[in-house]
Amino acid sequence: MSARPEPATLLITGGAGYIGAHTCVALQRAGYRLVVLDNFCNSSPQTLARIERITGQPLEGVQGDVRDRALLDRLFQSQAIQGVLHFAGLKAVGESSEKPLEYYSNNVAGSLVLMQAMQAAGVKTLVFSSSATVYGTPQFLPYTEAHPLAPVNPYGRTKLMVEDMLRDLHQSDADWRVGILRYFNPVGADASGLIGEDPRGIPNNLMPFIAQVATGRREFLNVWGNDYDTPDGTGVRDYIHVTDLAAGHVSALQHLEKTPGCLTLNLGSGQGHSVLEMVRAFEQASGRTIAHRFAPRRAGDLPAFWANADEARRILGWEARCSLLQMCEDTWRFQTQSAEAG
Ligand code: NAD
Ligand code: UFG
Repeated sequence: MSARPEPATLLITGGAGYIGAHTCVALQRAGYRLVVLDNFCNSSPQTLARIERITGQPLEGVQGDVRDRALLDRLFQSQAIQGVLHFAGLKAVGESSEKPLEYYSNNVAGSLVLMQAMQAAGVKTLVFSSSATVYGTPQFLPYTEAHPLAPVNPYGRTKLMVEDMLRDLHQSDADWRVGILRYFNPVGADASGLIGEDPRGIPNNLMPFIAQVATGRREFLNVWGNDYDTPDGTGVRDYIHVTDLAAGHVSALQHLEKTPGCLTLNLGSGQGHSVLEMVRAFEQASGRTIAHRFAPRRAGDLPAFWANADEARRILGWEARCSLLQMCEDTWRFQTQSAEAG
């Protein structure tokens, strides 16, 4: 009888955050052993316990900063880490204009320190959380991966800088296996209702704001602009269920394990939906009325963008499956259940 192979170990930076936590669930289910590094600046250690509860499998949580080179060196020396999924970073577009240096430090310097530690340890598989923000003002829609890259805010520029670093690194050493995943608008929550998006303070993003109006925590939703050149005048985005996004990471990682290279892929549903469509879908999912008012356009917002997701389907055989209704139902379940879950 042959021995069962040891599960591969991965380092997940920012794994207690919204997208990282859902990806941890998908990776554990796919058989990986996980070490999660997070400084909990925008998350809680409780999420790690909830991931274990969902999958029934333990993971190793390490509290620390991705910019701490000595800590990274210790982790790479003490654990048989074979690859890294790098979610850790700051993500609020508006805040990135107010505190650019924090964004360059966390997102750019953090990624640099991580790459240096990986190179020193000989770990050369890295999947990076990039964003559709790297494209900037649409020259054409839907965005393909070949669309020009011209981000219009510091947050987007940090993502582009890290992408450039990764492309240069792969160019210098073809042993690197790099996955650059450009996310569109992740929403929804794990079907268990145990993990989801729970922003601190007033939510910036549409879906968590709608969810808080539904519970009565906020009085009404401001719809930022109803005079765009879109079917109903409100902003259009490509919403993707976070569970689909998580599955995309597993597919990308498994592809890189077989095929060295530098892979750049849009992860979106390929469909645009307006703010009012989201409101109606959430009303259907929750059975609540979402009070909303039209307000002036939000500074810096693009009227509409969505993904061409053909490349991910062609290369990975991956595509987003969940409907808008499912995204809203799962968000609602998390919103109503998570507080009771302990
Ligand atoms: P999140 O804030 O929920 O998760 C990020 C996690 O990283 C948090 O747990 C936070 O505590 C941790 N973290 C931040 N800085 C750190 C540091 N220096 N050291 C260690 N841990 C640190 O965000 P998310 O929505 O899960 O996003 C994950 C990644 O995906 C980010 O890089 C983000 O920029 C990118 N992204 C997110 C979206 C989105 O709409 N949510 C869209 C495109 C790209
Ligand atoms: N919106 C409202 N009212 C709100 C919040 C949002 O009408 O209270 C509208 C916006 O104007 C926009 C749409 O809802 O038309 C979506 O807005 P979000 O703030 O949810 O998302 P964005 O597309 O502005 O940005 C998000 C992330 C970025 C990321 C980008 C692309 O916040 O970090 O998706 O992935 F870069």
